[in-house]
Formats: sequence, structure tokens, C-alpha cells
Amino acid sequence: MKKIVCRGIDKTQEIGYRLGKLVEKGDIICLTGDLGAGKTTLTKSIAKGLEVKGDVTSPTFNIIKEYTGRLPVYHFDLYRIAHVDEMYDIGYEEYFYGSGVCIIEWASQIRELIPEEHLWIEIKLGDTIDSREFYMRGTTKHYERIVEELI
Ligand SMILES: Nc1ncnc2c1ncn2[C@@H]1O[C@H](COP(=O)(O)OP(=O)(O)O)[C@@H](O)[C@H]1O
Ligand SMILES: [Mg+2]
Repeated sequence: MKKIVCRGIDKTQEIGYRLGKLVEKGDIICLTGDLGAGKTTLTKSIAKGLEVKGDVTSPTFNIIKEYTGRLPVYHFDLYRIAHVDEMYDIGYEEYFYGSGVCIIEWASQIRELIPEEHLWIEIKLGDTIDSREFYMRGTTKHYERIVEELI
């Protein structure tokens, strides 16, 4: 588990942007942390790093929104998911095992469906109002390398 402290939203955005540059086809980024932790803020900047043009907004009625950058980007927000069956209904496997990048807010809601190979980022509030702590764990060499590059 590696820790990155982001003092100020700019730092979070910089980390996200750099992460967006480092991810590859098929990558899975899992985000957890309370409401207001910064999952969507981080997602937006990852998308920017992936060269998504235009604004990334949280999926509210759907579980997922798709974007096009240098790779397809699939943004999931599972805050309101009531049952994992909703993942089967949208055909989640096409996304998780496809050729885009999945960014999954509230990934802990569907832990059993998360592919073994993933990057897990837990965001915690820091010691000041605008600081956040990222706890990052990659389950493979590829993801571990990404984390090392971000630190
Ligand atoms: N260092 C920081 N990183 C990310 N967000 C921060 C930071 N400091 C303050 N914030 C604020 O925290 C809030 C995070 O909201 P959001 O990204 O929507 O969280 P979540 O998606 O986890 O609910 C935003 O209002 C943002 O401006
Ligand atoms: Mg959010």
C-alpha cells in the first residue's frame, strides 16, 4: 500500500492527469472513499490525462457513462447500486474485460465482480480541509509500476 498526500485540489488533479497518461487498454481503476472524498474530482482528471475532450460528469441515472479519449473510458458510479444484478443488466463484462479503461467509483459495492488485476485507490480526508490521502495498491507488476511512477 502506497500513500500519496494531496494538499489542495491541484495536486489531486495533477495525480489524476498523470495517472490518465499511464493507464493502458483494459485497465481497471477502483475508487473508494466517503462522499466528498474526491473520487469524481480524480476521475475527471484521469479522463483529461486520457485525452477525453469535454466535461466528465457523474452518471446519475445510469450506472455508467462512456467517453472517448485516446482509449474508451468507462466511468462507473455505484453509489446507488442496490444489487450486483444491476451490473449484469448493463453487461458489465463488456466493459471490465474490454479494451477501454474502467474507472469505478464505490468499487467496494461490487467487490466480487472486480477483476483480480486492478488498481485500488482509497481516498481519505487529510488533516486540512483541502488535503486528501490516497492509499494505492496495484495487484500486478503493471499497476505497481504505475503507482511507483506517481509517487
Ligand atoms: N485535495 C483535494 N482533492 C480532491 N477534492 C478536494 C480536495 N480538496 C478539496 N476538495 C473538494 O472535495 C470535493 C470532492 O468532491 P467529489 O470529487 O465529488 O467527491 P466524491 O466523488 O468522492 O464524492 C470537491 O468539492 C473538491 O473541491
Ligand atoms: Mg463521486
